[in-house]
Amino acid sequence: MPTTVAIVVAAGRGERARGPGDIPKQYLSLAGASVLEHALRPLVQASQIHSIRVVIHPEDRDLYEACVGPFTAHLGPPIAGGETRQASVCAGLEAVAEQHPDRVLIHDAARPFLAVELIERLLGTLDRTPGAIAAQPVTDTLKRANPEGTIIETLDRANIWRAQTPQAFHFPGILAAHRRAKAEGHDGFTDDAALAEWAGLEVSLVPSRSTNMKLTTPEDLTIAERLLAPLSPFTETRTGSGFDVHAFAPGDHVWLCGVKVAHTHRLEGHSDADVGLHALTDAILGAIGDGDIGEHFPPSDPTWRGAASRVFLEDAARRVATLGGRITNVDVTLLCEAPKIGPHRAAMRESIAGMLGLETPRVGVKATTTEGLGFVGRGEGIAAMAVATVVLPL
Ligand code: CTP
Ligand code: MG
Repeated sequence: MPTTVAIVVAAGRGERARGPGDIPKQYLSLAGASVLEHALRPLVQASQIHSIRVVIHPEDRDLYEACVGPFTAHLGPPIAGGETRQASVCAGLEAVAEQHPDRVLIHDAARPFLAVELIERLLGTLDRTPGAIAAQPVTDTLKRANPEGTIIETLDRANIWRAQTPQAFHFPGILAAHRRAKAEGHDGFTDDAALAEWAGLEVSLVPSRSTNMKLTTPEDLTIAERLLAPLSPFTETRTGSGFDVHAFAPGDHVWLCGVKVAHTHRLEGHSDADVGLHALTDAILGAIGDGDIGEHFPPSDPTWRGAASRVFLEDAARRVATLGGRITNVDVTLLCEAPKIGPHRAAMRESIAGMLGLETPRVGVKATTTEGLGFVGRGEGIAAMAVATVVLPL
C-alpha cells in the first residue's frame, strides 16, 4: 500500500469569520469539539492515512495544544505556517519531505464536515491521476456584475465546479510544483489544484457534497452549529447495545478496555479477548445496524488470532464516519469479581477516548461484581455490557 500523509492547514487568521475578541475559527468550539478536531477526526479514522501533520500559526501553539485533545497521539509535531495558504502548504510539504511519502492529502482545518468515504474516493482516484480534488458542480446560475452590483452578463455554468479540500496528490509532483512556484515568486494560489494546474499536473475532480463546506463567514459558523446540533432536523440519534463474555484461562494479565491489567488469569479468546472493547464494538455496530464483531472479524479467520481489539473498535468507528455520522458518547460496564477496575478506570477511559477520537467526558467505564452469584461470581470469567450513541445525518 502506498504511504500517505495528511497535511491540515490551520495557520490562517480567520479574519472574515472573526468577531471582536474571537480566536481563529479553526479553534472555535462546534458541538463540543473544536473545528480543528472535527476536521482531524475523519483523517484519523481513514485507514489509508499513515501520518497527519497540522500546520499552525506560531502564535497559536497554546490554542492548538488545547484543541487537538484526543488526537494528540495521532499527530506529529505541528509545523509553522506562512503568510499565505500556499506558503503554509509548502511548509507542510517540506516538513514531511524527508519521509518520502508516496501521496499527500491536503485539507483545510476550516472544513469540519469531511467524510471518510470522500478520502477513500480521492485516494482511489490517485491510482489513475497525479492529482484529485474534492469538488462540486455549480448548480446556481452565475452572473458577472459591475462594481455597483448590476448584472453585466450571465455565465455558462456548464462544467464549472467549486473546488473544496481535501486535495490529494502524488507527493513528489506536488512538492516539485510548490518549490517551483515559490522559487519563481508566485505566492497567491488559493488552492493546490490551481498551483498544480500552473505546473502542468493533471488534476481530476471527485464529486463531493455541499456539506463539506469551508467555514468562512460568521453565517457559515451558524450553519455549521445547526448541522451539528443534537436536535438538528438534519440528524437523527441512534443507540446500540453490546454484550460479551470471556472465560478465564491460566495466565498473568487481562486486557480490558485497551489497558493491560495484571491478574491471576488471562481471558481466553481468539484475539486479545478484551471483553470491554468487544462489547463496545458491538454497541457501535448495533447503533448503525451494521452486523456484529463476529460477522466483520470471523473467529475462524487466522488474521485475527491474538489481534489487539482496538482494530475492531476502530473499524466500527470508521463505519460510523463512513456514514457521515459521529459517536457522541459510549458507556461500558465490566462485570467481574477481580481484578479491581477502579485503579485502571481513568486509563481505560483515556484509551477508549483515544481510539474513538472522543473527549474523555464522553466515555464512561464502570464496574460491578455480581455479589458472588453466577459465573462471574464464581470467578470463571468476565462479562461486559456497553451502549453507544451515534448521531447520523438524515
Ligand atoms: N491557511 C493557512 N495559512 C495561511 C492562510 C490560510 O494555513 N496563511 C489555512 C486556514 O487556516 C484555513 C485554510 O487555509 O484552514 C483556508 O483558508 P481561509 O478559509 O482563507 O482561512 P483564513 O485565511 O484563516 O481566513 P480569512 O481569509 O478569512 O482570514
Ligand atoms: Mg484566507
